[in-house]
Order: sequence, then C-alpha cells, then structure tokens
Amino acid sequence: MNTDTRALAAQALAEVALRGASLRDAMERHAPKLRDPRDRALLMALLSEGARWWLRFDPALDRLLEKPLRQKEPQVHALLVLGLVQLEILQLQDYAAVAATVEAARALKKPRLAGLVNAVLRRWQRERTTLLAELDAQPTTRHAHPAWLAKALARDWPAQADAVMQADNVEPPLMLRVNRRRSDRATLAAQLHAAGHPAEPHPWLRDGLVLPHSTDVTRLPGFEDGAFAVQDGAAQAAADLADLSDGLRVLDACAAPGGKACHLLERAAIDLTALEFDPQRADRIRQNLRRLRLDARLVIGDAGAPAGWWDRKPFDRILVDAPCSATGVLRRRPDVRLHRRESDIAAMNAQQRRILAALWPLLAPGGRLLYITCSVLRAENEAIVAGLLAAQPDAQAVAIELPAGRPAAVGWQILPGDGDLDGMYYAVLQKKPA
Ligand SMILES: C[S@@+](CC[C@H](N)C(=O)[O-])C[C@H]1O[C@@H](n2cnc3c(N)ncnc32)[C@H](O)[C@@H]1O
Repeated sequence: MNTDTRALAAQALAEVALRGASLRDAMERHAPKLRDPRDRALLMALLSEGARWWLRFDPALDRLLEKPLRQKEPQVHALLVLGLVQLEILQLQDYAAVAATVEAARALKKPRLAGLVNAVLRRWQRERTTLLAELDAQPTTRHAHPAWLAKALARDWPAQADAVMQADNVEPPLMLRVNRRRSDRATLAAQLHAAGHPAEPHPWLRDGLVLPHSTDVTRLPGFEDGAFAVQDGAAQAAADLADLSDGLRVLDACAAPGGKACHLLERAAIDLTALEFDPQRADRIRQNLRRLRLDARLVIGDAGAPAGWWDRKPFDRILVDAPCSATGVLRRRPDVRLHRRESDIAAMNAQQRRILAALWPLLAPGGRLLYITCSVLRAENEAIVAGLLAAQPDAQAVAIELPAGRPAAVGWQILPGDGDLDGMYYAVLQKKPA
C-alpha cells in the first residue's frame, strides 16, 4: 500500500479532477492509509488546494509538457499540478517540494517519469514570471474558475465578479454555532480560549463564534456534549429570518445534514418536520439531532410530492433550502467548480420550481416561507422567487435586510466574502392572511 503522502494525494486528486469523484469521498478513501496526523493534514491541504487551483495549473502544464499526460498518466499529471500547488500556493520550500514530488513519482511506480517531473518543475521555476503573467491574463486561469461560471458571474454581478472569484480562493474561517440549549456563547468562547483556540463572537450573528483556521472540531471542548455545531455564518442567518416563536409548526423541506433545522430547534420550542429525499443524508440529520440533544419528526420523502408524506395540517413556517449549484460555497467545497456543469442549472431550476409550487399550498395563511440557496446565480435565486410570486396571487415578498450582502431584485444576496461569509441567497415570502 502506498504511504507516500504526495503520491496518495496525486491518486486522490486524479480521481477528483479527472474522474468526477467527490473530494470528501476521495479523502475518506485515502486518509486512513496514513498513520501520522501531520501526514493526513498535508494530504488534506494538497487535495483541497489541488482541486481549488486545478483550473489554473492544469492549463499551465500544456505549456510545460510537449505531450499532454492527462489521459495516459492521470496520476503523474495530478502530481505535477500538486508540484505547482506546493510551490505557488502552499509555498513549501522549493528544494524540498521538488525533491519530494520527484520521489512521489517513484512511489507511484513511475520511475521513468521521475526525470520528467523534475524537469517540468525546474522549468516552471525558470519561466515562472512569464508563465504566471500568461495565466493571470485570463479570468478563468487567474482565478481557477470554469469559463461558464466566470461568464455567469460577469453577467449577474459585473461589479463584484472579480472579488467573488478571489474570495472563492481564500481559506475561510471556521465558524461555530453555539447550541443555546446546551451552553452559551461566552462560556463556550472561554472554554475554547482555555484550550488554545482563539474563538471570537461573530459581530452580528447571535449564536456565531469565529475561529481563524479549521481544526478537528471533534477535539474541541463541548463537541461530545452538543455545545456547538459547525455552520457558516451565512447559513446562521436563516434562524433570524424565520421569525420563530414557541409552538409554531415548521417544515424544513430540504433538511440534510440538518444545520438549519437544528438551529431552529435551538432557538424555539417548535414542532419541526425535517424532510429529506436522500436516506443516507437523512442519517446525518439523525446524528446531528442526537449529538445536539434535539428532537424533530424526521421524514424521508420528496418535497415536490407532499401527497406521500403530508398529514394535511398546514405549516406556519416552511424552509426551502433548495438543491442548487452550490456556486456560493466554492471556498469550502473546492471540488464543486470541477464537477458542476452549466447545463446543471436548468435542471436545478426545474427542481426549485417544482418544490416551491408543491409546498406553497402547505403554508398557513399569514405564514412565512423562506427560500434559500447557496448559489450566486440569479437564475436560481430571484428568478425562481419572481416565478412563484407571479404564479401565486396570495404570495407577497417580505422586505429583508442583513448586515452583509445586498438586496436582490427580490430577497437578499450574500456574495462569497461579504462579511467573510459564504455566498447565500434568502427570500422571505408571506401568504396573505385569509
Ligand atoms: C442545500 S441542502 C440542505 C442543507 C440543510 N438545509 C442544512 O442547513 O444543513 C439540500 C438538501 O435537499 C435535499 N433534496 C434535494 N431534492 C429534494 C427533494 N425533492 N425533496 C427533499 N429533499 C431534497 C438534498 O438531498 C440535500 O440534502
């Protein structure tokens, strides 16, 4: 079994970038092969930065290689991308990075290609200024984004597109949500400080704590007791917009892994139905509810077909955290940009419309529906909400405002990096009282 960290990272990255595997699955498959936690941390850094920067350094290799290796030698190709990532992004010492990458070619059982790896990385070092200038000349290679997404951002957010793509490439802070049923923010912050983690209260989110870097959260004080959950601040805004009070009947229609559902339960004594289509993902809701000591009715079903699961009692609040392109969360999920296709958007739009149309009748008069996506594309956000408003005469948009982001045509858009948050869209719709 291969235990060379860079060789394992190259195998895993080839699976992610060239074979469509998810970063999370690749990490779960390969990390257990490494014993030392420092090696596993390096594997994680190589794999996430390799996926994040693939669309910058993969094209660079076309300039550095006489014959492309992508098809015939995918692992060595990925290893070369990782060589450039080590030099340019992780800023490892040049000599050590090159020597270890050449060694990894041998560990991949490609000793004949070790010389090529050495030659390509040396050539990069010699020609780096010119090559970097060439890569910087195009938004796609400057920011390592697919062409379709760079174009969509320039169309939807012309003034912000560049900043959004930059934010997608910056390591996000670790954000926690304090479970106010199990602890409080000051107590947890003090416990984290005592354990050497400089946690600071989020400036405007009532339950948020911010740590500068990600860490193994299962080792943080309070994890086992359910004192906190990991959740980006953009997602924590949902609980405020839901306008909860005790006793309300609430549906979270797209609930897994349960981040927002759990937050709602921490905030008020509500009667919550957590609906999820995918049984495996529903297991993650179950685990989160258990760890955080919360209780909900968990239902496996299709939000677009309520006849299969609805008990005919209207809901006072409905959350539709819709399946979407995830283009707002590239900083936390760097492989999304490699796997998402432009043609996915129309399919997502059809799902978003279908789910909203099916759920609107389940809302009680005077009740609120929150439509949420982690997308930055107007087609998935305000266009979908405008469609619902046009189709449902008893629907009206509630004006909302958050301290980060900007108003959209309807609703509110947080773009990646606004207030150091993930990108997220919110619209609040009210059903006119009967
Ligand atoms: C954006 S995620 C939800 C995140 C979740 N609300 C949270 O805060 O942790 C969307 C979820 O909707 C689920 N989903 C997609 N289509 C669905 C459908 N038709 N009915 C119910 N759930 C669906 C997906 O499996 C996925 O788990």
